[in-house]
Amino acid sequence: MAARTRLRRARRALLASGTTAVLAAALLAGTEATSQAATQGPCDIYAAGGTPCVAAHSTTRALYGAYNGALYQVRRASDGATRDIGPLSAGGYAAAAQDTFCAATTCLITVVYDQSGRGNNLTQAPAGGAAGGPDDLAPATAAPVKAGGHPVYGVYVAAGTGYRNNHTSGIATGDQPEGMYAVLDGTHFGGGCCFDYGNAETNNLDTGNGHMEAVYFGDSRIWGTGAGNGPWVMADLENGLFSGADVGYNANDPSVGHRFLTAVVKGGPNQWAIRAGNARSGGLSTFYSGARPNASGYNPMHKEGAIILGIGGDNSKSSSGTFYEGVMTSGYPSDATENAVQANINAVGYQTAPVTSSSLTVGSRISLRATTACCTADSLRRNTDGTVAISPINAVSPAADRTAAGWTVRAGLADSSCLSFESAAAPGQYLRHSGFQLHTAASDGTALFMQDATFCPQAGHSGQGFSFQSVNYPNKYLRHYAYTGYLAGDGGSNTWDNATSWSEDTSWLAAQPWS
Ligand code: AHR
Repeated sequence: MAARTRLRRARRALLASGTTAVLAAALLAGTEATSQAATQGPCDIYAAGGTPCVAAHSTTRALYGAYNGALYQVRRASDGATRDIGPLSAGGYAAAAQDTFCAATTCLITVVYDQSGRGNNLTQAPAGGAAGGPDDLAPATAAPVKAGGHPVYGVYVAAGTGYRNNHTSGIATGDQPEGMYAVLDGTHFGGGCCFDYGNAETNNLDTGNGHMEAVYFGDSRIWGTGAGNGPWVMADLENGLFSGADVGYNANDPSVGHRFLTAVVKGGPNQWAIRAGNARSGGLSTFYSGARPNASGYNPMHKEGAIILGIGGDNSKSSSGTFYEGVMTSGYPSDATENAVQANINAVGYQTAPVTSSSLTVGSRISLRATTACCTADSLRRNTDGTVAISPINAVSPAADRTAAGWTVRAGLADSSCLSFESAAAPGQYLRHSGFQLHTAASDGTALFMQDATFCPQAGHSGQGFSFQSVNYPNKYLRHYAYTGYLAGDGGSNTWDNATSWSEDTSWLAAQPWS
């Protein structure tokens, strides 16, 4: 059989069998299957599509099949030493070296290296027009997940955290075309401005409409919205988060909350698009594709070519999110190329990494101790009226107080892979939120009660202990604020959503009970 016929048949068979879209796309592009190494990364796919990566950032994996350099750098608190973390092998997943290096201390992510070879690394963002700086660095252990079955870490952005590079190479400027994607935690977001990844001003200032082009994720209603209550993937084009052609509301941009979310924005002369999908499976949906927004200043664009992560163009840093990987390209990628990249992301098999610890064993009694510097002598306790607060408790505290700070760990009432906490002082009563304030109460048997009383442990947002995520408000966590117990977001409409000290206030040590 002629080679060309064999190739045609192979193409048809692969497409019919649903074999990975990566391979299929390569075949459609006329590339021999043998040239598609199993280890190819998103940037190999973009390059094959004629829109090469000019920045490639990930703390979880290499984004080129041949990349074997550093992925990110951590700095530990104990002695200030730094360590580069690379992949286990070329094209592979991040090695576990961070765990050994950071054992018995805490670490911050200091650099997210650019894998494209252009040196477009992301480091601590400086002060900007909207907020002082330098911004906070992400705790290195706050976003543990699994990629390819390997334990890895994402970049956990609490409000105040930000990375930037104002001196880039190869990033689009002016009206030049570019594409970008980011894989994010779709359950971690905020309503402030602006959790972004992408192209921004090179001077940290808002220099006007069209001077940015970045992926935005969150439920901000300041500029644009989509359908439902959010969060939404939008494009931050400066002085506006855009969900479609119109300023404000665009019905075709749906709320998306996949635990692992692929978010895509691309833009070229009088065209741009928003696309997104579940990073774990399935394809990308196009939420907008068309002409530049119906507002002045965005056509042509005035892109400046800096790169931001976690902040707005003017260093607005009032929002939050978690970043696992992302790239920026030169040229406007085709939908087919992006679809192939999405198949490659699917193949990673991003998974949550359930936090397991002997200190959170179901059936054991524990105390939950505050970690914020103000309050390290304090434990979470039930008051006699059923409200919940923190107060200093120690071995010689009155017995009633020591018992009030005791919690029996139970399998989560609404989700047995998470936890509920039964009060040692009031057996049968569970820690729950109501009106986003913490109380203890006996179950009334409703689904709402079960959900309000179920919390999923994660690594502590500050890098210490655990944070406890509400099962029905996944963007809110157990927090102390003004010595009172709340369910709080990292920024939000309640006073206790205050972003200051949020990471610390939501990080708890699960320790021996006081009685
Ligand atoms: O476009 C939304 C935001 O507006 C930008 O991120 C920021 O630079 C400005 O405040």
